[in-house]
Amino acid sequence: MIRIEGGRPLHGVVKAAGAKNAALPAVMASLLTSEPVTLENVPRLLDVDAAVELARALGKEVRWQGTTVVLNGGGELATEAPPVLVQRMRASFLALGPMLARRGEGRMPLPGGCAIGPRPVDLHLAGLRRLGASFDVRGGTVHASARALQGTTVYLDYPSVGATEQLLLAGALATGKTAIVNPAREPEVVDLGHLLTAMGAPVVWQEDRVAICGQPSLGGTTHRVIPDRIEAGTYLLAGAITRGEVTVDGARPDHLDALLAKLVETGADVRVKERAVTVALGGRAKAANLQTLPYPGFPTDLQPPMISYLATASGRSTARETVFSSRFNYVGSLVRMGAQVQVAADTVLTDGVEVLHGAEVEATDIRAGAALVLAALAAEDVTEIRGEVHLARGYVDLVGKLRSLGAEVCVAD
Ligand code: EPZ
Repeated sequence: MIRIEGGRPLHGVVKAAGAKNAALPAVMASLLTSEPVTLENVPRLLDVDAAVELARALGKEVRWQGTTVVLNGGGELATEAPPVLVQRMRASFLALGPMLARRGEGRMPLPGGCAIGPRPVDLHLAGLRRLGASFDVRGGTVHASARALQGTTVYLDYPSVGATEQLLLAGALATGKTAIVNPAREPEVVDLGHLLTAMGAPVVWQEDRVAICGQPSLGGTTHRVIPDRIEAGTYLLAGAITRGEVTVDGARPDHLDALLAKLVETGADVRVKERAVTVALGGRAKAANLQTLPYPGFPTDLQPPMISYLATASGRSTARETVFSSRFNYVGSLVRMGAQVQVAADTVLTDGVEVLHGAEVEATDIRAGAALVLAALAAEDVTEIRGEVHLARGYVDLVGKLRSLGAEVCVAD
């Protein structure tokens, strides 16, 4: 349980960690070769450790050195992922593409849904079918096979991050070129493209598609993972909601345009350098309206923390969640802290209040947890947040970083 005594403006500088959602597909890309793949700036998070453990279970030798991990060898990649590892973390499903590409078969449990919606993988499977794979789903397990993967053009009904990554991973070893029309363009997907290009499979972005030229085999490389824009955005919102001033050193302002535009709209002072962003707010924020969209739209992962911030702004704000079907399960906890928040269909509305009060609340997923942390930092007394394991899945050294900004926070059992 995390205990926060709020009401203290945060001031100072925190360092951006490597992006969880770039590190996860990068670990899966290492499955495409037996050559050593060195990943730098990898955040030491539960989800990343799970992905690395999965790579080890599939045959990789793994060596950590601080935030650098070397994934090497692995001979014949295993074709069955241990269910316990896959159930822990949805991105494990990205191991399917490499299994099909290198072994022509793969068995993988369907990833579980979670607190933010059903999380289907139909776009992954439809895309892999276009490349020549066939599937038999029995009892929650996907039995996949493909004599050979043949590059072709795949249209995505929705610019799914995971499906785009899955198809880039499979296309890297398919015969010929694979073009994905209507792809996800998140920085983490682009980062995977840089890694695959460095491994020998050129990835080229065009107006409406991304193309990868499949190779007979891939080499190893060294790749530095991009900074985590969602972690950075969370700390910038912490500075704003507490009416202090926070700088995230190492953040990429060009990955945060949507959030920074909304922060300016609420009256916050935003200052950017090439690799740092500072947000300050002296008085009460103004209300704002937003909708979450695929990148470069407002990121769905910052919708919950943003609503915590807007819950203390003056006036009514709304956020329409267009990416996930139900990403509002933090709202009940905010209401218990005195916020006036309600959900109407796919939109969350909040009439800002002057003051939030501490309460005992529970985090149900990573970003819901972030929303509760922000509300607790602004609340005028003590908040106890259970379910902190979710926070450990997405935020490196959260307590230490918040303390360094002047927050009164501790972990209690
Ligand atoms: C990635 O999830 C991120 N996770 C999520 O971050 C992020 O919220 C999401 O992209 C959107 O940006 C990782 O990168 C590990 P999607 P992913 O496929 O790939 C539907 C966090 O907190 N869909 O773009 O699962 C899906 O149900 C996490 O760090 C299908 O219908 O997201 C959702 O409604 C949470 N069929 C929408 O598309 C499919 O086959 C977006 O999903 C795949 C997805």
